[in-house]
Amino acid sequence: MRVRMKVDGVVYEDEVEPRTLLTHHLRDGLGRVGTPIGCDTSNCGSCTLLVDGESVKSCSVLAVQADGTEITTIQGLAEGSTWHPVQKAFQEHHGLQCGYCTPGMILAAVDLLSHNPDPTEDEVRHGLEGNLCRCTGYQNIVKSVLSAASEMRGDGPLPGSFQDAPAESHETAGASS
Ligand code: FES
Ligand code: FES
Repeated sequence: MRVRMKVDGVVYEDEVEPRTLLTHHLRDGLGRVGTPIGCDTSNCGSCTLLVDGESVKSCSVLAVQADGTEITTIQGLAEGSTWHPVQKAFQEHHGLQCGYCTPGMILAAVDLLSHNPDPTEDEVRHGLEGNLCRCTGYQNIVKSVLSAASEMRGDGPLPGSFQDAPAESHETAGASS
Protein backbone atom coordinates (compact mmCIF):
# COMPACT_ATOMS: atom_id res chain seq x y z
CA MET A 1 0.00 0.00 0.00
CA ARG A 2 1.13 3.54 -0.67
CA VAL A 3 1.61 5.81 2.34
CA ARG A 4 2.50 9.46 2.53
CA MET A 5 3.63 11.10 5.74
CA LYS A 6 5.63 14.11 6.83
CA VAL A 7 8.39 13.05 9.20
CA ASP A 8 10.46 15.70 10.97
CA GLY A 9 9.53 18.21 8.28
CA VAL A 10 10.24 15.97 5.27
CA VAL A 11 7.48 14.41 3.17
CA TYR A 12 7.96 10.73 2.33
CA GLU A 13 5.88 8.59 0.01
CA ASP A 14 6.53 4.85 0.03
CA GLU A 15 5.09 1.43 -0.62
CA VAL A 16 4.62 -0.60 2.58
CA GLU A 17 3.15 -3.97 3.44
CA PRO A 18 -0.22 -3.57 5.17
CA ARG A 19 1.19 -5.35 8.26
CA THR A 20 4.24 -3.04 8.63
CA LEU A 21 4.38 -1.32 12.00
CA LEU A 22 4.97 2.41 12.00
CA THR A 23 8.08 1.99 14.10
CA HIS A 24 9.58 -0.46 11.59
CA HIS A 25 8.70 1.79 8.68
CA LEU A 26 10.38 4.76 10.36
CA ARG A 27 13.50 2.85 11.37
CA ASP A 28 13.99 0.45 8.47
CA GLY A 29 12.27 2.34 5.67
CA LEU A 30 13.14 5.94 6.48
CA GLY A 31 16.27 5.53 8.62
CA ARG A 32 14.78 7.38 11.61
CA VAL A 33 16.67 5.20 14.05
CA GLY A 34 16.33 7.74 16.87
CA THR A 35 13.10 5.92 17.75
CA PRO A 36 14.24 2.84 19.71
CA ILE A 37 12.28 -0.38 20.08
CA GLY A 38 12.29 -1.67 23.64
CA CYS A 39 9.61 -4.33 23.74
CA ASP A 40 7.44 -4.42 20.60
CA THR A 41 4.43 -5.16 22.83
CA SER A 42 3.25 -1.63 23.69
CA ASN A 43 4.62 -1.77 27.23
CA CYS A 44 7.83 0.23 27.52
CA GLY A 45 7.09 3.47 25.65
CA SER A 46 10.58 3.79 24.17
CA CYS A 47 9.10 4.00 20.66
CA THR A 48 6.88 6.97 21.55
CA LEU A 49 6.68 9.79 19.00
CA LEU A 50 4.25 12.54 18.10
CA VAL A 51 1.62 11.91 15.43
CA ASP A 52 -0.18 15.15 14.61
CA GLY A 53 1.10 16.46 17.95
CA GLU A 54 -0.19 13.57 20.10
CA SER A 55 2.14 11.02 21.67
CA VAL A 56 1.76 7.55 20.23
CA LYS A 57 3.58 4.27 20.83
CA SER A 58 4.70 3.63 17.28
CA CYS A 59 4.95 -0.13 17.80
CA SER A 60 1.19 -0.17 18.32
CA VAL A 61 0.32 1.58 15.05
CA LEU A 62 0.47 0.32 11.48
CA ALA A 63 2.30 2.48 8.97
CA VAL A 64 -0.88 2.62 6.87
CA GLN A 65 -2.76 4.08 9.83
CA ALA A 66 -0.31 6.99 9.81
CA ASP A 67 -0.98 7.79 6.17
CA GLY A 68 -1.49 11.54 5.77
CA THR A 69 -0.15 12.45 9.21
CA GLU A 70 2.68 14.66 10.42
CA ILE A 71 5.15 12.86 12.65
CA THR A 72 7.80 14.24 14.98
CA THR A 73 10.57 11.94 16.18
CA ILE A 74 13.30 12.90 18.60
CA GLN A 75 15.44 13.63 15.53
CA GLY A 76 13.13 16.46 14.51
CA LEU A 77 12.27 17.99 17.88
CA ALA A 78 15.05 20.58 18.04
CA GLU A 79 14.81 23.78 16.01
CA GLY A 80 18.05 23.56 14.09
CA SER A 81 20.79 23.64 16.71
CA THR A 82 18.43 24.85 19.45
CA TRP A 83 17.11 22.08 21.65
CA HIS A 84 13.49 21.92 22.69
CA PRO A 85 13.13 23.05 26.34
CA VAL A 86 12.33 19.48 27.38
CA GLN A 87 15.54 18.20 25.77
CA LYS A 88 17.48 20.99 27.47
CA ALA A 89 15.93 20.21 30.85
CA PHE A 90 16.80 16.50 30.57
CA GLN A 91 20.39 17.49 29.94
CA GLU A 92 20.49 20.08 32.74
CA HIS A 93 18.83 17.87 35.36
CA HIS A 94 20.46 14.64 34.27
CA GLY A 95 17.13 13.00 33.38
CA LEU A 96 18.79 10.02 31.78
CA GLN A 97 21.43 7.42 32.26
CA CYS A 98 21.71 4.85 29.46
CA GLY A 99 19.38 6.96 27.29
CA TYR A 100 17.34 4.11 25.87
CA CYS A 101 14.03 5.39 27.21
CA THR A 102 14.91 9.04 26.65
CA PRO A 103 13.50 9.76 23.15
CA GLY A 104 10.14 8.32 24.11
CA MET A 105 10.20 9.92 27.55
CA ILE A 106 10.95 13.37 26.08
CA LEU A 107 8.25 13.13 23.40
CA ALA A 108 5.69 11.88 25.93
CA ALA A 109 6.64 14.86 28.13
CA VAL A 110 6.22 17.28 25.22
CA ASP A 111 2.70 15.94 24.70
CA LEU A 112 1.96 16.10 28.43
CA LEU A 113 3.06 19.74 28.66
CA SER A 114 1.06 20.69 25.57
CA HIS A 115 -2.08 19.63 27.44
CA ASN A 116 -1.00 20.64 30.94
CA PRO A 117 1.58 23.47 31.02
CA ASP A 118 1.70 23.63 34.83
CA PRO A 119 1.61 20.04 36.06
CA THR A 120 2.13 18.88 39.62
CA GLU A 121 4.75 16.23 40.35
CA ASP A 122 1.97 13.64 40.62
CA GLU A 123 0.55 14.69 37.27
CA VAL A 124 3.97 14.30 35.64
CA ARG A 125 4.38 10.84 37.16
CA HIS A 126 0.88 9.87 36.05
CA GLY A 127 1.37 11.34 32.57
CA LEU A 128 4.57 9.38 32.01
CA GLU A 129 3.45 6.09 33.53
CA GLY A 130 3.33 4.48 30.07
CA ASN A 131 7.06 5.09 29.66
CA LEU A 132 9.41 2.81 31.56
CA CYS A 133 12.96 3.59 32.64
CA ARG A 134 15.14 0.86 34.07
CA CYS A 135 17.99 3.17 35.11
CA THR A 136 17.09 6.45 36.76
CA GLY A 137 14.45 5.76 39.39
CA TYR A 138 12.43 8.51 37.65
CA GLN A 139 13.37 11.25 40.15
CA ASN A 140 15.45 13.30 37.72
CA ILE A 141 13.07 12.63 34.85
CA VAL A 142 10.22 14.18 36.83
CA LYS A 143 12.43 17.09 37.86
CA SER A 144 13.43 17.62 34.22
CA VAL A 145 9.82 17.78 33.09
CA LEU A 146 8.86 20.18 35.89
CA SER A 147 11.82 22.38 35.00
CA ALA A 148 10.91 22.36 31.30
CA ALA A 149 7.33 23.28 32.22
CA SER A 150 8.58 26.20 34.30
CA GLU A 151 10.85 27.39 31.49
CA MET A 152 8.11 27.06 28.86
CA ARG A 153 5.76 29.14 31.04
CA GLY A 154 8.40 31.88 31.11
CA ASP A 155 9.34 31.34 34.76
CA GLY A 156 12.84 30.06 33.97
CA PRO A 157 14.25 26.61 34.69
CA LEU A 158 14.10 25.14 38.19
CA PRO A 159 17.25 25.51 40.28
CA GLY A 160 19.27 22.51 41.24
CA SER A 161 20.82 21.62 37.92
CA PHE A 162 23.78 19.36 38.59
CA GLN A 163 25.74 21.60 36.25
CA ASP A 164 25.13 24.61 38.51
CA ALA A 165 26.21 22.82 41.66
CA PRO A 166 29.56 23.94 43.04
CA ALA A 167 32.24 21.38 42.36
CA GLU A 168 33.44 19.55 45.45
CA SER A 169 37.10 18.93 45.90
CA HIS A 170 38.04 15.38 46.69
CA GLU A 171 41.31 14.40 48.22
CA THR A 172 43.14 11.56 46.55
CA ALA A 173 42.61 8.34 48.44
CA GLY A 174 45.48 7.76 50.73
CA ALA A 175 46.74 11.35 50.57
CA SER A 176 47.98 12.63 53.89
CA SER A 177 46.54 15.88 55.23
S1 FES B 1 8.75 -0.70 21.76
FE1 FES B 1 6.82 0.28 21.66
S2 FES B 1 6.12 0.31 23.70
FE2 FES B 1 7.98 -0.81 23.80
S1 FES C 1 17.89 5.99 31.14
FE1 FES C 1 18.20 3.86 30.83
S2 FES C 1 16.20 3.11 30.53
FE2 FES C 1 15.89 5.16 31.12
